[in-house]
Amino acid sequence: MANLPIVQFEEKIIKTVEQNPVVVIIGETGSGKSTQLSQMLRRSGYSKSGIIGVPQPRRVAAVSVARRVAQELGVRLGEEVGYAIRFEDRTSEKTCIKYLTDGVLLRESLANPMLNQYSVIILDEAHERSLNTDILLGLVKHLITIKKSNLKILITSATLDGEKVSKFFSDCPVLNVPGKLYPVEILYSKERPKSYHESALKKALDIHVREPEGDVLIFMTGQDDIEKLVSKLEDRIRSLEEGSCMDAIILPLHGSLPPEMQVRVFSPPPPNCRRIIVATNIAETSLTVDGVVYVIDSGYVKQRQYNPSTGMYSLDVVQISKVQANQRAGRAGRTRPGKCYRLYPSSVYNDEFLDVTVPEIQRCSLAGSVLYLKSLDLSDIDILKFDFLDPPSSESLEDALRQLYLIDAIDENGQITSIGRTMAELPLEPSLSRTLMEANEYGCLSQALTVAAMLSAETALLPGRSKDTEKKRKQNNLDLPDGSGWGDHIQLLQIYECWHQTDYNIDWCKVNGLQVRGMTFVKDVRKQLCQIMEKIAKGPLDVRRSRRWRENQQDYYHLRKALCVGYANQLAERMIHHNGYRTLGFKAQTVQVHPSSALKPDEEGKLADYILYHELVATTRPYLRNLCSVDIKWATPIINKINKVNVNKLSGGVAHVDDGKLSDLPKKDAAAGAPDDHENRIQAARERFLARKGKK
Ligand code: CDP
Ligand code: MG
Repeated sequence: MANLPIVQFEEKIIKTVEQNPVVVIIGETGSGKSTQLSQMLRRSGYSKSGIIGVPQPRRVAAVSVARRVAQELGVRLGEEVGYAIRFEDRTSEKTCIKYLTDGVLLRESLANPMLNQYSVIILDEAHERSLNTDILLGLVKHLITIKKSNLKILITSATLDGEKVSKFFSDCPVLNVPGKLYPVEILYSKERPKSYHESALKKALDIHVREPEGDVLIFMTGQDDIEKLVSKLEDRIRSLEEGSCMDAIILPLHGSLPPEMQVRVFSPPPPNCRRIIVATNIAETSLTVDGVVYVIDSGYVKQRQYNPSTGMYSLDVVQISKVQANQRAGRAGRTRPGKCYRLYPSSVYNDEFLDVTVPEIQRCSLAGSVLYLKSLDLSDIDILKFDFLDPPSSESLEDALRQLYLIDAIDENGQITSIGRTMAELPLEPSLSRTLMEANEYGCLSQALTVAAMLSAETALLPGRSKDTEKKRKQNNLDLPDGSGWGDHIQLLQIYECWHQTDYNIDWCKVNGLQVRGMTFVKDVRKQLCQIMEKIAKGPLDVRRSRRWRENQQDYYHLRKALCVGYANQLAERMIHHNGYRTLGFKAQTVQVHPSSALKPDEEGKLADYILYHELVATTRPYLRNLCSVDIKWATPIINKINKVNVNKLSGGVAHVDDGKLSDLPKKDAAAGAPDDHENRIQAARERFLARKGKK
């Protein structure tokens, strides 16, 4: 590994780290930041006084980099080098280099606010600007300023926002590791193609047939369009005349791929064979694939965005930023001069792309993060004055405070409650952690654990939600439970219970079109959640079916009631004379039940009067996904509470904030622009995109 650019700077890096609590390291993707820095620090003895922790924004990166480092050091993964991601901990007492997700590190800090199990923390991939990394930046800044800590912080980034980060840490040193990138020729399309899918396919075949050897990396948006393109490419390449060109291996690369499939991109191809890798933006900076000479850039990325004023999520295919486009192009020049084909004209790049990617903190729900900040045992952290690199909008902070209040995590003065503290310890979204706590009171924890575990499995692994499995199931006349009319949460519970009755039989999953890996994962998650609940309750729980539960088994009464408490912020009432629901809350709106839902009208064609929803997603129209019917009796007190919320009071909770008005928050004039401005820009970009989509 001695030839990686970063290794030549070892002496300088170590010296700078010795002299400064915080150091920013900027180096081109592939220069060795993720794999080498931890090893250098270990060589210099930093693992003697604590663990060298390397938080990553992406699970895939944490796992694959840990594997690689273990391999380089010739140790077994999980011993000296290990990783920890949500619901999967592969570390041991021996572990001195630990790769983990930023979310896992945040949760660890609840138990140990000074993070003094660590000697060094390398905040990797800071340019990704994940919500959790942004919070960690604020947190470590706080730790450094209170001076009691010997913790060393390294912040790494592939792009140039290092200056901004350095300013944030009172002008800490910035080390630049010059990468040896070869020139990359940029080739634009004359116009936006009708379908970037078709255009990518054509371009890839073109390269394969005409261009000299060298791997091709294609940036698409998500699992679906990657799989589609992979299968089309396979067909088309197979139909090429034998001997007319070299062989090709086509490899998908995205976050929901099983680990053994992911690592395939790191092994070199056999001789006289070209690899065509079809990836999400994961290959932009998180994972480096060597040997790429040609890049095809669709210009799009799939982005999940949350709108705090409607509580609605959308998973939009949006245009990338200029920074992303340049990162993508750079992937072509790692081993020799390369080419990047942009499937859009230069005018789109110049006039439509944002300069930088909008940080996640400005486009996601903050309920979990605000709860986290409120539960930190650092009495001098005031959430409203929390030092964010880019502050979130006051609207999304208000939205988070309201949600936390409705589920009793904070009181009317904005103080965290004991319920809130317990919730923060669970690695779940606030609605589900609140449900578990309530279910424990009602004696139906066992069922609630199952529901939470089923919902926490990655969506792609969830049963029966994709068109294909649905079709297969219908053809084979399979008979999975249907939620008995109560909805999706209950259906998920029933499915798991059926599997439990077969003694977790793998063939049963296969016969019923359920993903074995997904179901096994659910079982494991359930066990872990159960252990955490036991720890929190300081003793064994009654996770057996209590008598009360059995009495109410018919209508899942207590489970649905517990869910209603957890989802207090996500209730809807049926609209009379209208085929749909209206969400209850501050900005009521008309929404539809997603067609995949198990909640169906009864024989008289009538839907339940009140429901709770796991998610409100905007696709072609606003849809509710994963629903459960609830009783008006349970909803009424919540509705009363909604009507009485005083958000100004909620935002207080700390004596020295005058009247705690959110709009009085000190607004930072950050380089990336004020959040409102950002939101407008995202909105404008999205509108332009939708307008274009409409024209097709
Ligand atoms: O973090 P940064 O982008 O600076 O580079 P890195 O992830 O440390 O990667 C350095 C080198 O290790 C690259 O050439 C990668 O291809 C290689 N690597 C690998 O072969 N397998 C991995 N799982 C990770 C990195
Ligand atoms: Mg890296």
